[in-house]
Amino acid sequence: MIEKRPAWSSQFAFILAAIGSAVGLGNIWRFPYIMGKNGGAVFLFVYLLLIFFICSIPLLAELVHGKYTQKSVLDAFGQVNSKLKIFGWFDIATSVMISSFYFVVGGWIIFYILKSFSFSGITDFGGYFNNFVASPIYSVVFTIAFLFACIFFVYRGVNKGIEVANKIMMPLFGVLLIVLVCVSLSLPNASVGLEFMFKPDFSKFTPSMILEALGQALFTLSIGMGAILTYGSYLKKDDSILKSAYSIIIADTIFAILAGIMIFPAVFSFGMEPNSGAGLVFITLPKIFTQMPFGNLVSFGFFVLLFFAALTSGISIVEVTVSAFIDTYKMSRHKAAIIMFLMVALLAIPVSLSFGLLSSATIFGKTLFDFFDYITANLFMPLNSLAICFVVGWLLKVANDYVFKNRFMHELFLFMCRFVLPILFVLLIVTGLR
Ligand code: PFF
Repeated sequence: MIEKRPAWSSQFAFILAAIGSAVGLGNIWRFPYIMGKNGGAVFLFVYLLLIFFICSIPLLAELVHGKYTQKSVLDAFGQVNSKLKIFGWFDIATSVMISSFYFVVGGWIIFYILKSFSFSGITDFGGYFNNFVASPIYSVVFTIAFLFACIFFVYRGVNKGIEVANKIMMPLFGVLLIVLVCVSLSLPNASVGLEFMFKPDFSKFTPSMILEALGQALFTLSIGMGAILTYGSYLKKDDSILKSAYSIIIADTIFAILAGIMIFPAVFSFGMEPNSGAGLVFITLPKIFTQMPFGNLVSFGFFVLLFFAALTSGISIVEVTVSAFIDTYKMSRHKAAIIMFLMVALLAIPVSLSFGLLSSATIFGKTLFDFFDYITANLFMPLNSLAICFVVGWLLKVANDYVFKNRFMHELFLFMCRFVLPILFVLLIVTGLR
């Protein structure tokens, strides 16, 4: 049976779900290690400028496109011009590709939750992590478990599944984060970590940092694959786009900063390096947890928090395609969810084997995991963002008070969509693909 096109039960439910989409591995896993690699506070400074003044524009554009057309990605582009439907397909391709590696990390998190109480005896966490990710059975089973959890909520529908998941998990996430921030701040020498985060040393500034911060800001706001467009398409006429967009940005930024405050004081307090890259969360932190009082509990709390963050984002990634199949092909939600499950599983299984069995299967010299991360971040997400800015800036012709009441702000918004953002996205693609 085809469901009636759903709508959020309230604007608050939408904002919570969109924050759930935005706050994810990008905030807790990626943001701290990119900031660590780029010298701390200077990066934060550049990032804040970009997220508020630049990335708010494509975020608004996705919301405008979704709310205005009340359609998911294929029909939203198709309604403007049937030739543009291809960008809807790009969004779908991006959602499947991002799922393939994002859900592998989601699987690692489930494993770490289960193992949190048995970390005490381990001394070599690097070796522990490498052995785990190289194991074919574990990698596949936990990736599928995470995928299953995401599909479960999407299968149940917008109100009974997506809203419920976010209403339960986001408050719990917030509470856990605050508790862990307090634990981290109570450690000896916590202030060194805070200084690293908040005292800028402008000699560490590099121009490439701007593009890295831009890429991170897009990823963390879930821009560039239709997730925000899709969630926006369930908005009601009276819901405010502007208020929603800035609530999402402010909450996402607060959560990213809190994640830094949870991680860096602990890292410095135990004399570890803040620039250990992707291993920061899976290698450095567990090592720190074993040296803390009640470390098992802290570790458990941390990985549950990470799981909630990843799951509420994963749900939004899956919903892009499911919603498109329902709208465009008049499929039932259940059928669309099962098809999405199979498509993602087909790609995510080989990707999950990138660290073991298929470590020598490479594309352009990258493992499957790295390739899909690279190609989505450097090509597909900026390209999709460019498409949305182009459509909203030139073709959609929304009324001048649709987003901003003020005429000047409306013109500025269109100018940014038409000229400034496309240039930045092209730069991001050109430099990213070099
Ligand atoms: N914003 C999510 C994060 O920061 O982890 C990742 C993400 C979710 C990207 C949804 C794109 C997306 F459509």
